[in-house]
Amino acid sequence: MTGRAPIAFLFALAASAADAASLGSPRLDYVLNCAGCHGLDGAGVPAKGVPRLQGNIGKLLHLPDGRAFVVQAPGVSNSSLGHAELADLLNWLVVEMDPAHLPPDLAPYTAGEVAELRRARRSEYLARRAELAAALAARGLPLDDHGS
Ligand code: HEC
Repeated sequence: MTGRAPIAFLFALAASAADAASLGSPRLDYVLNCAGCHGLDGAGVPAKGVPRLQGNIGKLLHLPDGRAFVVQAPGVSNSSLGHAELADLLNWLVVEMDPAHLPPDLAPYTAGEVAELRRARRSEYLARRAELAAALAARGLPLDDHGS
């Protein structure tokens, strides 16, 4: 939200929430649970350590641990959404934010998979992200910098 006029942001949020009501709940869930930090457009605030999801999140899905990492990101795992809602949100999000980088054989997240990954949550976010970034760079899919 840094750099946005608060009033303009509130109008954008309201317009987007109105959209969301007609488009289905994953978008609304994103607006209510994620957009406050990652932005409505998923641009994040990389300078403050909030990663950009747009043009980036799809790359993570090329590796099994990247797929798990997305669910186990703190704001995802700890959200108040149920497992099924979170699976729906993520399935919507990856197509919305990064269609160009999705693996061709992508399987949707299921509620059961999300539940299991949340239970097995791991905390070493930065070290794990660095490992994923190195593996993805080797595949020609360089991740954006985390920022901080
Ligand atoms: C309170 C702010 C906040 C909220 C709310 C939040 N996130 Fe995040 N998110 C972050 C931060 C900060 C990181 C980096 C984690 C770290 O540095 O420990 C992150 C990391 C991520 C990552 C890993 C991306 C990468 O490139 O490393 C994904 C995916 C993600 N968030 C998605 C979401 C989704 C989906 C939601 C809503 C369900 C959400 N986040 C809610 C702040 C937030």
